[in-house]
Amino acid sequence: MKQILVIHGPNLNMLGKREPEHYGRVTLSEIDDLLVRRGRELGLLVETFQSNHEGEIVSKIQAAMGNIQGLVINPAAYTHTSVAIRDALLLLEIPMVEIHLSNVYKREPFRHHSYMRDVVTGQITGFGVYGYTMALDAVANILQGPDTGKGKMG
Ligand code: DQA
Repeated sequence: MKQILVIHGPNLNMLGKREPEHYGRVTLSEIDDLLVRRGRELGLLVETFQSNHEGEIVSKIQAAMGNIQGLVINPAAYTHTSVAIRDALLLLEIPMVEIHLSNVYKREPFRHHSYMRDVVTGQITGFGVYGYTMALDAVANILQGPDTGKGKMG
């Protein structure tokens, strides 16, 4: 079975309590459950990982090299600061989706820049929790063969 890693960056463990006007009320464990279930429907094994530490995220990406077929990442604040996570992503030659719950382009200017944007396959930003499902579907679609439009593993 194809394996997909979902990485959540700093402060996303506080979802549900954190700035609900930007991030809604759904908790991270609810998002993780949703992703594992959606993964099953798509025929994908989904592993989720959250860390507040840049180095731990880098190590997780390095350890995943050769072991996963797709990546979904919300680097959170590290999106805007981390050359180290960007460099780690360059190790992976697999479909990768950068996702943000809020629309970062509607927020403060410092959130408009992403160190990941030209390394990932694409970005999804501003669709709340649904963005995670979109991201997983996008990875599944690429793994099935781009341009089939099915968004499902066969
Ligand atoms: C975020 C947007 C980032 O700018 C912010 O630092 C986050 C969450 C989002 O999901 O909208 O922590 O990645």
